[in-house]
Order: sequence, then structure tokens, then C-alpha cells
Amino acid sequence: MARFTKESIERVRDAVDMVGVVSPRTELRRAGGDRWQGRCPFHDERTPSFGISPSKKMYHCFGCGAGGDVFRFVQETEGLDFADAVQALAERFNIELVHEAEDPQAAERRRRRERLHELLERTAAFYVRHLWESDEAARARAYLAERGLEEATLREFRVGYAPSRWDTVMLASQRSGFGAKELYDAGLVQRPQGGGRVYDRFRAQITFPLCDPRGRVLGFAGRRMDDGRGPKYLNSPEGDLFHKGAMVFGADLARAHAAKAGQVIAAEGYTDVLALHQGGLHNAVGIMGTALTEEQVGELSRLAPTVLLALDADSAGEAAMVRAAQVAAGRRLELRVVPLPEGLDPADLIARDGAGAMRAAVERSVAFVRFRVERALRTGDLSSAEGKDVVLGELRPVLAPLPASVLREELTRLIADRMDLEPETVTSLLGRTDGRARAGAGAVARGGGAGGRAAGGGKVDGSPPPPARPALERREHAERAFLAYCIALPGLGREALSELEPERDLTGELSRRVAAHLLEHLDQPTADLPDDDPTLASLLAELTVRADRLTASPAAFEAQRLQLALARSERELAAARSAGTSVAELARRREELRIRFDAAIQRANEEGSHPDAVT
Ligand code: UTP
Ligand code: MN
Repeated sequence: MARFTKESIERVRDAVDMVGVVSPRTELRRAGGDRWQGRCPFHDERTPSFGISPSKKMYHCFGCGAGGDVFRFVQETEGLDFADAVQALAERFNIELVHEAEDPQAAERRRRRERLHELLERTAAFYVRHLWESDEAARARAYLAERGLEEATLREFRVGYAPSRWDTVMLASQRSGFGAKELYDAGLVQRPQGGGRVYDRFRAQITFPLCDPRGRVLGFAGRRMDDGRGPKYLNSPEGDLFHKGAMVFGADLARAHAAKAGQVIAAEGYTDVLALHQGGLHNAVGIMGTALTEEQVGELSRLAPTVLLALDADSAGEAAMVRAAQVAAGRRLELRVVPLPEGLDPADLIARDGAGAMRAAVERSVAFVRFRVERALRTGDLSSAEGKDVVLGELRPVLAPLPASVLREELTRLIADRMDLEPETVTSLLGRTDGRARAGAGAVARGGGAGGRAAGGGKVDGSPPPPARPALERREHAERAFLAYCIALPGLGREALSELEPERDLTGELSRRVAAHLLEHLDQPTADLPDDDPTLASLLAELTVRADRLTASPAAFEAQRLQLALARSERELAAARSAGTSVAELARRREELRIRFDAAIQRANEEGSHPDAVT
């Protein structure tokens, strides 16, 4: 995509009515000044902690940490990428976008990809028409109906049927002006081994379009209807556009629902996803078989902070869950397991017992660690001392990352009961952990701190309590509060920022990036944001909204600034002590800062503004 000029993007931003864009997603009321607030559209909450600034075109939620500018809002709520969000708003508010000049090679590549996209879209539409209109697809229609899939669901997912002839798609596409190479690159035709005429890849199959997160077709899966030998599904070949390992099926349709629920349901198959959506579980996606990749886990974590694994309750499915946990380890992702009856996948369960049964199973999801413990106890040999040792050895790494918590206690008791041991014995055999260890193959405990999104419903185990906020994080909070004051009082802010020595005064890498950006853009903090730094954009949004809420007085600003200086001075002092160099001068300086700090606080209190209110 050729980039739009910064200038034309800014014109879109200026034209946008922020309240108009956000209102359809949540009811907003005016909260004074340049601030409207309401319940967060990104997580479930009762009391409003979501706010927007109509003049700055920014939003932020203090509950879940979602935040950014109006483009990000549209990206997140509509599942679009940046360019598409800009385009959508430009159309809505009648602003003409201007493309930046592109180098000829890049322009050629872009045109080529656009052609492939168009070819795939047309083919998807053709398959859909063929499913519903052709005589030859009658059997497919009957088959899908028999499986309980309704027309509305099938149309939503653009399920189709590929004709049985060898060349229908090829000839139709060529008539529309697509070349043989384009058909081949799109994965729609294949060459016989040993050469010869190319022919349609998908024939006499039910087709499922495989789309990117924006809903653009990248390839297809074709399902055979007979039960002969060979694979049940045939996918598009790996190509320029299609990479199976990077795909999460249905992400485009699930995104908004997953974001809202704070949870995404991961099933194995295409038909599972369709059945789940049809049953009202719109936050479901498919992982296309059992070998979960890093890229897929990455995409899942972009969809929601909690992943509910609804995989077949067979050993392959269980192995997949263990693998999912390994891939997810170290990420900020909470894994839970949806208990399914032995031998049934979600589509089977819904067909047999209805969507209510599936929803009940989702409600009963268990933390991944609990699932692992129960599985080890079920499959292990608990009749001998050696067998118990094996099971404990298997569980040690699973439980290691779990901090001291009610869940941990409960699981320890469960193991003790089943092994006929004292809980204390189990604890000591499992090895004491200090609850801070994070490594290991277990499910990842939720990252601590204030930013974690609330998971909506369906919890059986309480999540482990968040660890006490570490000192580093406290420091970052102070630094961010200072940056918010710089935005609130740009005159003083500019002076303070230009005197700042980011490497010494700020400890957080992100704080430093924000400070550097603010130094250039203090009047319009959210202008000229790099497109590729969403963390920066989100923090700036947060700080801007915060700045609006501050009753910032110069004294409060001074206190905030001195707090940074004081923290720096403490660090220098500590470093000097451990290096054994002279500390007298540093100690004197810290004392002086402390006195000034106390005085500034005093003045700020008299003026009725509290610098601490934002930390
Ligand atoms: P399953 O074998 O569990 O099939 O494969 P399914 O989803 O239940 O299929 P239906 O309901 O009988 O139609 C799970 C997933 O693994 C991938 C597909 O994504 C499938 O949905 N798969 C399976 C393949 O890619 N190729 C295959 O041959 C089989
Ligand atoms: Mn199935």
C-alpha cells in the first residue's frame, strides 16, 4: 500500500468528530472540559473508566490500558490496519487522501499483490455463487445442512463450492484478464508432475476462504465430501500471500467480539469455528489443525489477553494444548482449557447437545495448570512410589511459575489427596518456589501490575494475585506522571524537557522515547507519531488524557520534576556507595533536593493540586 502523505492524514484527523466515532461503541457523557467518558468498549466494566479527548482525538481506558488516537480506535474496533482505518475515516468525513510518491519497483510489487487479492476475492465470490446456485452443489448444500450449518453462517464465512470440472476457475479468470502466472501465484491452479497443462487446484470440494485479519482472502481450504483415503482438507499452497503457519482462521470475524470479551476461543477446525459463531460464540477462531506456531500464538495474543483452548479431547488435542503452553510461555497470555467430552470437538458437541452445552463448557474452563495437573494424575501410575515420583517430576516445571496463591494451594492438596501424601510432603517434593520464577513450561500467569485487562466471565479458578508492584515500575510511574505534567503545562514542560538528560533522569526506555517525542511535539503531542510504534502512541494517548484531568499548578509541576531529580540522586548515591567512592557531595545534594521537594509539595497542597494524584 502506498503510504498516504502525513499532511493528508492530519487533515483527516482534524476533520474527524471523535464523539461521533466513539459514540456508537459506548454511551458517552460529558465530564467537563475536553473530556467525555463512558464504559470501556474494550473490556467489560460497570463503572466508566474510559475517556476521550474530542479536541485531541484521543481515547484511553484506565481500566484495561487501551488507548490511542482516533485511527487506532477504528483499527481496534473494526479490525482494520492503519491505512484502512485512515481510509475509512477519510471517506466518512469527506477528506481526500493523497498518496506519497512511490519508487517504481515498490509500486509494481503493490500492483501485483493487489491483482492477486482481486483474483482471490473474485474466486471466493464465484465459489459462493456456485454453492448456492448450481445443481452440481446440491449434495454439498445437503451435506452442510445435515451438519447443522445454516445459510446465514455459511454466507458470513463465505463458504463456497468448487466445480468439478478441471478448468472452470482457470478459464473464467483468464476471460477476466488474469494471466496464467497470476493464477499460479494465487494458488488456484497447479501443474501436473512432469509438466503439461495446468488445471484448477480446487475441484468438487466445499471451499472455506482463508482470510487475513482484515478479511482479505489469501487462500482456500477445500473439503472433500467423500470419506475415501487421503487428507480430508486440501489447502492453498504456500505462496507470496498464503502462509498456513501464520493463519488464524476467522480472526477477521472474531476480532471485535474477542476484544470486547477479553477472551478468544481457539478451536481446531473450520467447521468448529462456524458452529461456534452460529451458536453465539462469536469470539471463536480456528488454529487449522494441531501444530500451533509462534506466529499463531502471536495473533491470538493480539485478539485477546485470555485464550480458551477448545481442542478435541483426544491425545492429539491434549498434546496440542501442552505445545500451546510452551509456545505461549513468556508471553502475557492467560491460557485456559475448555473441557470437552472425550472424542468430541466443538462442532460435534454443538451438533449433539446444542450451543448451550458448548457455552456451559466455556464457562467451566480451567486454568491451564489445573488441566495439566489433572491430566498427569489421570494418566500417571499412582500405585507405586516410583510412579508417583515420575508424576511429581512431570509436574514440577508446570507448577514452578505459579506464584503462591489459592490455586497453588488447591492443586497441592489435590495432588496430595490422589497420591495419599501429606500436602507438606508434596510441597517439599515439588520444590519450593519463591513465586517469582517465570520460566518453565506452565501456563503463563497474567503479567502483574495495573494494566491487565479484566477477563470477562467464565472463571473458575481465581488468577494468581498480582505481585507487589516492583520498584522499577514505581519509578516508571513517577516518570510518566512527570511527562503528563509536561503536556499539561507546555511552557514549563518545554523548559524541563530541554534540560532533561534522558539517560540519567529517566530509567524507562519508553519514558525516554516519549520525552524525545514530546520535546519536538509538545503543542500537539500526538502528531507525527511513527506508524510502527504502537506502544509509544498508546502511552502518549494515556498521558494526554491524564494531562487533561490534572489540575496542574506550577508548584505541582515543580514537585513532580524534583521527584525525578531526587530519584536520580538516590541512584547516583547508591552507585557511589557500591563503588566505594566519596558520597559526601552527593548526599548533600540529595538533602538539598529533598528540602526543595518538600517545599514544592507544600505549595502544591496549598494551591489544591496534588501531584500524587497521577502516580
Ligand atoms: P479434523 O480432522 O479434526 O477435522 O482437523 P474437522 O475440523 O473436525 O473437520 P470436519 O468437521 O470433519 O469437516 C482439524 C483441522 O485440521 C486441519 C483443518 O484446518 C481442520 O479443520 N486439517 C485437517 C488439514 O488442514 N488437513 C487435513 O487433512 C485435516
Ligand atoms: Mn469436526
